[in-house]
Amino acid sequence: MLWGLFGGKRDRQARINNDSDSLTVPAGKDLLSAALEAGFAWPHDCRQGNCSTCRCRITSGKIKARTDFETVLTPAELKEGWVLACQSELRSDIEVEVELTSEEPQAAVAHYRGTISRMTSLTHDIVELIVQVSDLQRAGVAGQYAELSYDGLSVPRSYSFAKAPSNEEKDELSFYIRKVPGGEFTEWLFAEDRTGTELKVSLPYGGFRYHSESGPMICIAGGSGMSAIRAVLEQAVLDQVERDALFLFGARTQQDLYGEEAMGAIRRQWHPDYSFEYVEVLNMEPEDSDWAGPRGMVTDHLKAAYVESKTFDMAACQGYLCGPPPMIDAAVEVLKTEGMSGEQIFFDKFLDASSMPGGRPGA
Ligand SMILES: Cc1cc2nc3c(=O)[nH]c(=O)nc-3n(C[C@H](O)[C@H](O)[C@H](O)COP(=O)(O)OP(=O)(O)OC[C@H]3O[C@@H](n4cnc5c(N)ncnc54)[C@H](O)[C@@H]3O)c2cc1C
Ligand code: FES
Repeated sequence: MLWGLFGGKRDRQARINNDSDSLTVPAGKDLLSAALEAGFAWPHDCRQGNCSTCRCRITSGKIKARTDFETVLTPAELKEGWVLACQSELRSDIEVEVELTSEEPQAAVAHYRGTISRMTSLTHDIVELIVQVSDLQRAGVAGQYAELSYDGLSVPRSYSFAKAPSNEEKDELSFYIRKVPGGEFTEWLFAEDRTGTELKVSLPYGGFRYHSESGPMICIAGGSGMSAIRAVLEQAVLDQVERDALFLFGARTQQDLYGEEAMGAIRRQWHPDYSFEYVEVLNMEPEDSDWAGPRGMVTDHLKAAYVESKTFDMAACQGYLCGPPPMIDAAVEVLKTEGMSGEQIFFDKFLDASSMPGGRPGA
């Protein structure tokens, strides 16, 4: 009541890019969530205040910042009124400038209740989770992600679709989820068979997806990062794209390998005039094991086996990377050094609380 009287906790209006249309931002909701639920093509990736993709400039009005923007925005940007939409609640009506990725309305983010229908162990620390969502309207595009949450979880967690949406069984969503020691969601998930448990499911989120330029696709993933890359490659198969693709999967040892069957299906269905190569690279496999494949870091293998041999000219290729942030940062550097344009490198960083300065917002 007091909030209402003093004007603090009220729905607010955001006028976007001087347009006559304005967006209602409910009290307690962040600007990005409200925009995505209204179908605006607002750029975003992590939704956790880390990547700065959702940045926008407030030209009038006041916001409340949920996290410290200084870790991702420069002092000059802060002075000019730039904020992170995913971490901004409105304290007044505002006017805001943002470079939307499309003027067309997008699939609006929607919230569902789902049920875990299957959990299948893929490796010692990765499961395939199938969630049944009975009234699923539209799952988004390959490469995007959903937010999953069980009753009692501090804040929802993000998980990439592990299949192209049109390859899913009706009303199903597939995810590859890795157990993170000490992690709130994954320790809960792995503690017992959760089949039959209800989850809140919100989707679709994220800007990672297939881009239809020409030239070979160089895909790199580690751990559960195979999910979004598999989805993008499946979409490329469905579209029968006319380009070669190389997928390097980095793992520690043979016990971390999975997904060969899905990769075999992609290889068989790839456009017949072009090549698809899937290569597993191990960096901690015991020296004396029977592993006959490549060893070391995926990026070193890319250089030695494909760049130096001139199999691929990186300047003509497009990069798709997915997995833990340190792996992605290292791979982006290597791809750029080898001549790939930064604009042709697309990635999905699997951030968790340990990779966020100050921990997970809202937790
Ligand atoms: C866009 C996106 C897509 C993703 N897709 C996938 C996917 O397809 N598959 C997948 O497996 N993962 C994915 N992730 C990661 C996923 O969202 C979770 O972050 C991950 O599963 C860990 O969640 P958790 O709750 O188990 O761990 P968290 O609770 O986030 O904890 C992670 C680690 O941080 C430590 N920690 C907790 N709090 C702090 C703190 N304050 N400071 C330092 N350390 C702390 C914990 O002990 C633990 O070791 C994605 C992430 C993003 C952003
Ligand atoms: S989407 Fe807002 S900082 Fe990443």
